[in-house]
Amino acid sequence: MKFIGSISFLLIILVGYTYEDESDPYEDREHSLTRPYPSVFSTSNSYWHLHGFSLATDRYIRLTSDTQSKYGGLWNMIPVTYADWEMHVHFHVHGEGKGFFGDGFAIWYARDPKLDGPVFGYTDYFYGLAVIMDTYANDHERQKHIYPYISAIVNNGTLHYNHDRDGTDISIAGCESSFRGRTTDTLVAIRYENNRLTVSTDVDGKNIWVVCFSIDNIHLPTNYYFGFTAATGQLSDNHDIISVRTFQLATSEQRRSEDRKNIIPAAPAAKPGSTENDTSKSSSWSVLKIFLLVVFVILICLGAIGSVWYMRSYSHRSKRFY
Ligand SMILES: *[C@@H]1O[C@H](CO)[C@@H](O)[C@H](O)[C@H]1NC(C)=O
Ligand SMILES: *[C@@H]1O[C@H](CO)[C@@H](O)[C@H](O)[C@H]1NC(C)=O
Repeated sequence: MKFIGSISFLLIILVGYTYEDESDPYEDREHSLTRPYPSVFSTSNSYWHLHGFSLATDRYIRLTSDTQSKYGGLWNMIPVTYADWEMHVHFHVHGEGKGFFGDGFAIWYARDPKLDGPVFGYTDYFYGLAVIMDTYANDHERQKHIYPYISAIVNNGTLHYNHDRDGTDISIAGCESSFRGRTTDTLVAIRYENNRLTVSTDVDGKNIWVVCFSIDNIHLPTNYYFGFTAATGQLSDNHDIISVRTFQLATSEQRRSEDRKNIIPAAPAAKPGSTENDTSKSSSWSVLKIFLLVVFVILICLGAIGSVWYMRSYSHRSKRFY
């Protein structure tokens, strides 16, 4: 047993490494939270603060319990001073509900920690990045994807999160992921490097990261804060954070010398709401349409040329025989 245990431990390390290895990162303890948890939360000298109804046990931080109308947060109170990072979050979303449960939780890289509000317990019109682990489709009639659904939002304080539409109109990317109620460990990784945001999941207990989405041209400043929030309303669930591991990624000299504090969060290349319609499908459709149109036009031309040629030779022949 011990042998198998250490083998699987080694495997976990190896698999973890293949993902992190690329640029020689190192774990940043100030932005990590692993068991055994620190004995103090929310005091002035602790890195991590609990907010709202969240509570810490020795096995997990519970953002909300499986009861109605609760909200809770877990915030790191040290701003992130480096540009490029990767965060691994081990979480567990579970509860009694079979068909009705919710709403999910959100992972933040935001300017203002510990605010309350309607977006999974955090404020609307926020500044920064949200990765939303949504378990319930409020707009289930119009939603084209299956829930749970993971999506990302980048906000400069002007965008409104429309809960009834699950933020579809402002989300920049997303993927389906069955992370709720699993008996295996469920993890999500968020990597921000050279303005590329990549979200990956490991929810099938295979210790393999599967890319959920990867999107370029994402601008985020330094000196924002990591946080986790969840809220329950009519629907409820246990939203637990088990561990957070943050890695500082090696950064180019140019990026390091850049003053990134005053960058305004932006995702200029993303088309908000495009996750609603399957863009890849629709664009391949239009390519196919154009192709068919061209073939059709060529066939018509060939037909016209052919019939002109036929008529001519026919009239030649007619001349010859009369
Ligand atoms: C904030 O974002 C909105 C929507 O993407 C954009 O129209 C606006 O120009 C941005 N404002 C600033 C100050 O960047
Ligand atoms: C999605 O498709 C529907 C119908 O094809 C269209 O009316 C709607 O405007 C599209 N939405 C976006 C965001 O492209």
